[in-house]
Amino acid sequence: MSESRADDMITRSATSGEILLSCQNVTKEFSVAGSTITAVDDVSLEFPEASVLAVVGESGSGKSTLARMLLRLMPVTSGTITFRDQDVTHLKGRDLREYWTEVQAVFQDPFASFNQFFTVGSLLRRSLALAKISKDEADSLIEECLGYVDLRPKEVLHKFPHQMSGGQRQRVMVARALMMRPKVLLADEATSMLDATLRVNVLNVLHDLRNELGLTVLFITHDIGQACYLADRVAVMEHGRVVERGTTEEVIFSPQGDYTRRLLSDVPDLRGSLKP
Ligand SMILES: Nc1ncnc2c1ncn2[C@@H]1O[C@H](COP(=O)(O)OP(=O)(O)OP(=O)(O)O)[C@@H](O)[C@H]1O
Ligand SMILES: [Mg+2]
Repeated sequence: MSESRADDMITRSATSGEILLSCQNVTKEFSVAGSTITAVDDVSLEFPEASVLAVVGESGSGKSTLARMLLRLMPVTSGTITFRDQDVTHLKGRDLREYWTEVQAVFQDPFASFNQFFTVGSLLRRSLALAKISKDEADSLIEECLGYVDLRPKEVLHKFPHQMSGGQRQRVMVARALMMRPKVLLADEATSMLDATLRVNVLNVLHDLRNELGLTVLFITHDIGQACYLADRVAVMEHGRVVERGTTEEVIFSPQGDYTRRLLSDVPDLRGSLKP
């Protein structure tokens, strides 16, 4: 998992095609000051196992709201969420906690997710203790999961959040998510606060996790360049709706809508650098 591919588009691999997670006609309405905002409007998406789907769109297009509903952190106004052919839209209690081990998330600001008074070691051990994983098992699991994100325990376990780079912090959060052995990793603007080199590094880690662990990745970003770098398929959101979807190549080389063309025009060198 090196940075050697930093200036190259990463390779894409075939997926099993089995749909692991999906949503059907999902809508979210918020009532704000007496009026109703439709943040997500009748969205249906499918996430095949071991694939990377990017959801892109401008700020306010509904990406995070969709992610929160898929994660079951926020109820849907209408529609259905399905995981392994099971309707999980209204799961509760133990079943919901089980779902939360299968579907893990990494968010934008890893600094905010850390308690600054805990070292990385105590943060990770506390997460595992909450999941009732024994101490012996915890240490080997921590080492294994730090390995997936190219970090050595000696390098990070004794460090406090402010003693690490942004990229290291974000990779620790990915490692923490992986400790639950999820099938789906949802990354909401997880690379947005990183500089270009660290960003590519984290993108490559996500790509390798898909290939090595068969992880299904939902990658949410306002940056269509990053989406196209990483994803097999791209869905474009505007005002809560999916206005375009297709394979990454289709979206880059034959965008159907003006909105997508506008997003693509912000990354002028994208077409030249894509190696399908
Ligand atoms: N809890 C809430 N209450 C009311 N309105 C909300 C709430 N959460 C989101 N919204 C509104 O829903 C719309 C979609 O917001 P959302 O955060 O999903 O967008 P986003 O695409 O993730 O944007 P960004 O790229 O800035 O993260 C926005 O108009 C936002 O103001
Ligand atoms: Mg958001």
